[in-house]
Amino acid sequence: MSIDLGAKYVWHNGEFVAWDDARVHVMTNALHYGTGVFEGIRAYYNGNQLYIFRLREHVARLLNSIKLYGFGIDYGSEELSKAIKDTLIKNGFRADLYIRPLAIKGLGPIGLDVRKLKTEVFIIAMPYGKYFEKEGIEVIVSSWRRLSGQTVPILAKVTGHYVNSVLAKLEALNRGFDDAILLNEQGRVCEGSGENIMAVKDGIIITPPLSAGILDGITRRSLMEVAGDAGFRIVERDMERSELYTADELFFVGTAAEITPILKVDGRTVGSGNVGPVASKLKILFTDVVKGRVDKYRKWLDPVW
Ligand SMILES: Cc1ncc(COP(=O)(O)O)c(C=O)c1O
Repeated sequence: MSIDLGAKYVWHNGEFVAWDDARVHVMTNALHYGTGVFEGIRAYYNGNQLYIFRLREHVARLLNSIKLYGFGIDYGSEELSKAIKDTLIKNGFRADLYIRPLAIKGLGPIGLDVRKLKTEVFIIAMPYGKYFEKEGIEVIVSSWRRLSGQTVPILAKVTGHYVNSVLAKLEALNRGFDDAILLNEQGRVCEGSGENIMAVKDGIIITPPLSAGILDGITRRSLMEVAGDAGFRIVERDMERSELYTADELFFVGTAAEITPILKVDGRTVGSGNVGPVASKLKILFTDVVKGRVDKYRKWLDPVW
């Protein structure tokens, strides 16, 4: 059993294994209990150079996720960053990519004592295009609330946390929509199933703060800086659900989604119902940044060779 996603090799604990051999045993603890941490990183090819976007920040978040659960890992940030670059080189990629570092609690007996279990590290990478096929999407407000920071350390990007996202995503898809916005337990706007959210009202960009229980998105932070430099006013503050329906623009931001305009929420048209001017402008700026065309932000790009 395998799946062809256009990659030949996977990095596993310091060695390369053939794509079809990148397997785990059924007694891998993470399969049973969601005890894994992961990252989603993009690399962009500009016809000349392959750049990894904000590699350092993604590796730092992965190590923070490990720390928040006390899982332990045999590799530090330098080793992981090098392993990620080596994986892209070994595969000979010349395309835009998605990179998925995955660190999971490995083989063990039944039970929740993961202290003695090895943390198995995989680095998977593959050519990748758009996460959403459409230019603008239609979403619902999920009936499920985002996992709260009192239940799990929400800043950790942990495989087990994503059952919450899968519930919201399936609810949306099964009702004929593209994705879902989750509210937090206070009923305020939190984020998408795998994206942060930004709204525009009267020319001001609004995005929920970390205290709303969001994942500390690297795209969100990057865009806040890029938009600020481009003269936009950005406010981090709690957002009421009703603001979703009265916003001039709404868009998801994230590594996979990049900047994805939301054209309808719960069947109600957002703004004009078309991709708005702020999202359009940010998309152009962001593409320039990730393709290495803006000197100021070249520091966010790690050349692979
Ligand atoms: C729940 C959730 N929120 C937000 C994001 C966006 O974060 P980033 O921009 O770092 O990809 C992601 C993606 O990783 C996510 O899974």
